Formats: sequence, structure tokens, C-alpha cells
Amino acid sequence: MQRFILLILLSLFLYNCRDNEAQLNVDYLSSKDTIYSEQFRPQFHFTPQAKWMNDPNGLVYNNDTYHLYYQYYPDSTVWGPMHWGHAESKDLLHWTHKPIALAPDSLGYIFSGSAVVDRNNTSGFGKDYKPPMVAIFTYHSMEGEKAGRSDFQTQGIAYSNDDGLTWKKYKGNPVIKNDSIRDFRDPKVFWHDASNKWILILVAGDHALFYNSDNLKDWSLVGDFGKQFGAHGGVWECPDLFKLNIDNTDEEKWVLLISINPGGPNGGSATQYFIGNFDGKTFTPDHLDVRWLDYGMDNYAGVTYNHTPKNERILIGWMSNWNYAQETPTEEWRSAMTLPRKLTLYKDGEEVRLRNYPINEFDNLVAEEVDFSTDLETTILLKTNPRLGSDITFRANLTKPLTVKLSNRSREDFVFAANPKTQLLTVDRANSGVVDFGKEFATKKQSQPYLPQDKMVEVRMIVDASSVEIFVEKGKYVFTNQVFPAETYSRLLISPADDESVENIEINLIKSVWIDEE
Ligand code: FRU
Repeated sequence: MQRFILLILLSLFLYNCRDNEAQLNVDYLSSKDTIYSEQFRPQFHFTPQAKWMNDPNGLVYNNDTYHLYYQYYPDSTVWGPMHWGHAESKDLLHWTHKPIALAPDSLGYIFSGSAVVDRNNTSGFGKDYKPPMVAIFTYHSMEGEKAGRSDFQTQGIAYSNDDGLTWKKYKGNPVIKNDSIRDFRDPKVFWHDASNKWILILVAGDHALFYNSDNLKDWSLVGDFGKQFGAHGGVWECPDLFKLNIDNTDEEKWVLLISINPGGPNGGSATQYFIGNFDGKTFTPDHLDVRWLDYGMDNYAGVTYNHTPKNERILIGWMSNWNYAQETPTEEWRSAMTLPRKLTLYKDGEEVRLRNYPINEFDNLVAEEVDFSTDLETTILLKTNPRLGSDITFRANLTKPLTVKLSNRSREDFVFAANPKTQLLTVDRANSGVVDFGKEFATKKQSQPYLPQDKMVEVRMIVDASSVEIFVEKGKYVFTNQVFPAETYSRLLISPADDESVENIEINLIKSVWIDEE
């Protein structure tokens, strides 16, 4: 009986909280019914204002500004003739949309690639003593592909003398040709101090190729990697290669990212990584096992920024999967980017592994902390306002089974669980909302092996209108997933929630980054 009365009191308390919450949130929101209040529109992830987007391209920092170019088709919400769309940001969280940067021409569509600031004007594209920005991308000739040729993907370059706003294509394009490899694309370029050269890595079907250059125009093939290494369940795409220090030491390792489609650990598109050494020509991996950046279904084609101010490695991925990317139930726009994530290396025994975790600046988006009852056996009311996201953090002992359920009043739910017996972390989005639009969106429980440790570890779940990003142990284990709930997930249930299993629950509501845009 006592328990019953307590429950009634608690419900009344939660009901009241909901009213207060609605009051509190009014300040952050404009009542305008704009594109950013569409159903499923992410409130703090990047989306194009309208139409189709896939991979991030040309991630580069220049003159206090982060540029995000991206695969874009301005005429439809499905994939088509590829352009580079463009947005700029000062903090990687608030974005300003810019005009299209690169459009198809007689050499083909503009596929994925990268961008650098050519500080010493090695390319000669500079003007008035100002270093040019140079973009390196793949040309995809539809005519060539339709004619059944094998030389339809080549590499081109373009330069900008106005800080990345407008671009001129180089007259000598293509700068790298090929006559026999059908999948020959996605160049990533960076400056390599040790060899005093520009290095370009691209993918060629089932392996990567390395080129070098003094001027970004003339490239020599110097090495290859991968036929015998890593996962090969699909085509290799979107490579990246960079050096990182191992946590708190001077020891450095090279990290190679390779996206692969299909063949991901839970189906469809995913990104694998290798740890090893690179001497300007050859990459030598330290391990034979296959390693994945993310075990969720929706983190693909992720690459990192060139020239970041503190020399940090910041990755943005495309938050979708080619299995169903073109069928997701959004109307005006399609696809979002992941949160920007810092990549770091840590030692796991003798092995070196990669973490990915939201940049610290994300914490600046907190609107308010949710006040909830400490009786954790009860569902916690997160929020009622669809324009706020939630950032849920707690510490858990994952040597015991744990289930975390997000749900809404429409009885939809998203479930994350840890099972120490099977040593698997799992995600189930079978009942997460609209799920029937595409192959394999909800057919399978996603799983990731983990090592249960007898101590409290951090679990963080960041929930936006159409995504849930989960980070365990600060990004050692990650699941990124799209979800399309009929209404915002407003409830959270962690079980069990006794002191021995879970502690330090903190729930923050996250502001929309698009309010100022309206
Ligand atoms: C990866 C990818 C790239 C290609 C681009 C085309 O998602 O297939 O390999 O450059 O998309 O839009």
C-alpha cells in the first residue's frame, strides 16, 4: 500500500515537472513553424536544408573556420549527380549553410575527397600572397560507367582564393587517371613532414594506394596496402591516414581508416581502422584482426579534419547506411552527419586501439539539467519538447546485466543492453518507430563484444530527433544509429538501478543549434 501511495506521489511529481519543463524551455524556442521543426529533423546534428546528402568531404580548418563540404544532390532526396554542398562553423556545432562549392562538369560528377590549405603555395594557385585552399576529389564519368569502361573514375583538383567559398577547377584535370580499376576514388591528402611531400591516399577496389607530390598537381604512385589485411566483405571507400599520440605518452602511431560497403559488423556500411606505421610510402599494420570504429548501423564514410588548431583529430561521419539510406522516412531532406568526435589512442595491454567520443565543446549546448526522482526503478521523464535533445550519462558496472530503454507514449522503444555472460553489448531498434522502409533497418539486434570489468564505467547516450549515439568507456565501444520515432523519446528506464549497478546518473537537455538560423 505504502509503495502504491509513493507511486501516486511520484507520478504527480513527474507530471508537475513536465509542466515546469515546458515553461522553462520556452526561452530556447521560437514558435515559428520552420523547416527545423519538421518531424525527424535533427536539432544538433548537421543536415542539409533540403535534399540529398551523403559523405562528408573536404574537412578543413582555415582562418578560424571549420568547413564541411559534403556529397550533395540539390534536385532530389535520393542520390544523383553529385555536387559538393558546403557549410561553415566556428565550433563544429553551429553551422551556416553556404552555396554549392563544386558542381559536375564534362569530366563527371564530383565524388568524395578532401581539402588542404597550401600554406607555401606549392601549387602556385595562390593569389596576392594569400595561400590557396586546394580540394582533391574524384570525377565519376557516368558516360564511361554506362559504356562499361573501367577508367571512369579519375582524380581532379580545384582551388579557392576566397577562403573556400568559390572554387575554380584546375585546367589540367584529371591529375590522376587509371585505366583498369572501376572503384578508384575518395582521395585524402595531407602534408607529410618526414618526406617533405604531400601524400594522397585513395581506394582502389579492395586496397588502398599511396601517391606523393610536391605541388598537388603531379602525383607519383609510391605504395599500396590492404589486399591481405582487414575486412573485405565489400568495396573499400573513403580512406584517411593520420598520426596520433598514444594517451599521455610521446609514442606515436599511424591510424588508417577505411570505410567498407557492404560488410560491416552488423550489416551494410561501416568503418574499419588499422593501427600501424607509415613511412611516406608503405603502411605496416601492427595487428591482423579486423577492428571497427563503430558497431552501430549509421556511421559511414567518416574522415577527419586537416589543420585543426590544436592538432586534434576530429572525425565527422555520415549518419546513414547504404542498405536503406535512400528510403529513410524524411520528406524535405535526407541524412545527417554524426556529432563531431575526437579520436584518441589508448593502450589495451600490448594493443593500441582507437576511441571516438564527442568533442568537449558539445557540453556547451546543455540547456538545463533534468531533475528526477532518485527512485530509479521508475521511468524517468526526460522531456516533452521535441526540439530539445537529451544527453544521458551514468556509470555502470557491466559485469552485471544492464538494460537501458528509451521510449515514448506511442509505445515505441530503443533498447541498449550489456550482457556479461555473452560479453556482448547490444542495441535493438526493432520497435524504435518507423522501421519498415528499408532492407535490414530493424531486422537484426546489433552486437559488439566487450570485456566486462569489475568497476564502474561511463555509459553515455546522446539522443536527437532521429538518432541515438552510444559511447561506452569514453568511446571505446560505440553504437551510432538512426531512429524514426512517431514522437520524441520522453522516457528513460535503466534496470537494474541499484547502487551497485549504476551511479551518477546525469541527464541534460540539449539546445537546438538551429534556432538562430530561423
Ligand atoms: C561512399 C561513396 C564514395 C563515393 C561517394 C559517392 O558513401 O560511395 O565512395 O565517392 O559515396 O557519392
